[in-house]
Amino acid sequence: MAKAKAIFVCTQCGAEYTRWQGQCKACGEWNSIEEVHMARPVAERSAVRSLGGFAGAADGKVENLANVQIAQTPRLGTGYGEFDRVLGGGIVPGSVVLIGGNPGAGKSTLLLQTVCKLSATTPVLYITGEESLEQVALRAQRLVLPTERVRIAAETSIDNIMRLAQQERPAVLVVDSIQVMHVEGVDSAPGAVTQVRESAAALTQFAKRTGIAVFLVGHVTKEGSLAGPKVLEHCVDCSVILEAGTDMRFRTLRCHKNRFGAVNEIGVFAMTDKGLHEIKNPSAIFLNRQETVAPGSLATCVWEGTRPLLVELQCLVDISQYGNPRRLSLGTDTNRLSMLLSVLHRHAGIQLADQDVFVNVVGGVKIDGTSSDVPLILALLSSFNERPLPRTTLAFGEIGLTGEIRPVQSGLERLNEAEKQGFQTAIIPADNAPRNKSQIGNLHLVPVKNIQELVDLV
Ligand code: TYD
Ligand code: MG
Repeated sequence: MAKAKAIFVCTQCGAEYTRWQGQCKACGEWNSIEEVHMARPVAERSAVRSLGGFAGAADGKVENLANVQIAQTPRLGTGYGEFDRVLGGGIVPGSVVLIGGNPGAGKSTLLLQTVCKLSATTPVLYITGEESLEQVALRAQRLVLPTERVRIAAETSIDNIMRLAQQERPAVLVVDSIQVMHVEGVDSAPGAVTQVRESAAALTQFAKRTGIAVFLVGHVTKEGSLAGPKVLEHCVDCSVILEAGTDMRFRTLRCHKNRFGAVNEIGVFAMTDKGLHEIKNPSAIFLNRQETVAPGSLATCVWEGTRPLLVELQCLVDISQYGNPRRLSLGTDTNRLSMLLSVLHRHAGIQLADQDVFVNVVGGVKIDGTSSDVPLILALLSSFNERPLPRTTLAFGEIGLTGEIRPVQSGLERLNEAEKQGFQTAIIPADNAPRNKSQIGNLHLVPVKNIQELVDLV
C-alpha cells in the first residue's frame, strides 16, 4: 500500500509543488497554495489525469492519421435550437460539456428541461448533488415536464456516479454540480481545486471510454471565474456560460470553447414562471419600437459576444438648469460620451457645453465596443435639432479623436442582420462598405468618412 503523500496545490490554477511557497510560479497569485494529502501515489494520479482529454487513444499504438477509423455517430439534438447551435449542432456522444454561470442563472433549470425533452427518445441520467430528489421532482412537476423516462439519483461520489452510469447506460449524463462532487482517495473538501479537477478528469475519462455525453454544471466564483478555472476548461470539450444581463428576464448562453464547432455562437433564452423559453429572434425583442419615432432615437447593430444584435439607442439633449451640465449614459461608457462630445465640438463645431446629455440603450443591453459612436452622435444631433431620424434607418461605426470614422468588425454580418429585419438605410463607415455596391438586398448604404458628414446628414 502506497504511503499517503502531501503535495501543495495552487487553488487558482492547480499547479503542483513539493513544498509550500508564498507565490505560485505558474500564475503569479500570492497565498494561493494549499497542502493536499493524496491517498494514491502522485504518479498514478498524474497518469489518470493526463488521460483525461484523450483516454480513447490509450492503447499505445502509432497509426497514420488517414487510417484512423471514424465512428459515424450522429449528434443528438437537445430539443432546443438555441442550445444546439451553441453546442455546434447538437450533443456529440462521448463529449464533456461544462455549463458555467452564477448561482440562479438557470443552469439546473436548463439541464432539467433538456433532459426531460431528450428522455422521449434517449436514455438519460440526471445526478443531483445540490438539490434533493423531491426538489427536482417538484420543479419538473411545476414546469409540466415529461418525467416518466428520466432516471435520476442524488449522489456526490464520483465513483458511485460512474457505477450508476455503468448500470444505467444512459446516452446523456448530467452532473449538477461538479463543485459538490468528491473522488475517493483525494483528501480535500468538495469544491477545492484538487477535488474539482480530479472529479472532472475522472468523468472526462469515463465519457471517452463509454461514449456517454456528460454535462457538468460549474458555479462561477465571486471573481467571475469557474472554480479551478484553467483546470476545468482545458479538460472539457466544450465550455458554455449561461449569464443574465442587466435585464433579468433574458439569459444568454455563450460558448467559450468548443472542440466540435465554432465558438462564435450565442443562444438567448427568456426566464419565465414556466421555466426557460428559447428566443429564436432576439433582435425582434430588443428592437420592439413604436410606429412613430421621436427625435433622439436610432437603431444600431452591436456585436453581442459573437452575433449581431439590433438595439435601439436613445439620447436626450436638454438645456442645463444648473451651472454644471450632466453627462449620463446607461448601457454605454460615460467617459466615451464625454470624449465624443469633445470631438463633436472640435471637429464639427457643435457646442453642447450648456446642455445636459443623457444616453440610454433600450432593453437593458450593455454595449461594450466602439461601434455605437456613430449612432450615438446621430441620435444626439437628432435630439438637439428636434428632428426625428427615419424608423427604418440604422447606423454603426467608431469615431476617432481626429473626427474620422473608422470601420468596425463584422460589418457585413451586421448589414445582413439589418437587412433581414427590414431596415432600408444603413449609415456605415466608408471602410465597411462592400466595394462596388451601394445596396445589400433592399438595404441602401450610406458610407461616411468623418463626423462633419454626420452633421450634414442630420
Ligand atoms: P436554477 O436553475 O436553480 O439556477 P442555477 O442552477 O443556475 O443556480 O434557477 C433558479 C432561478 O431561476 C431562480 O432565481 C428562479 C428562477 N426561475 C424562474 O424564474 N422560473 C422558473 O420556472 C424556474 C424553474 C426558475
Ligand atoms: Mg442549480
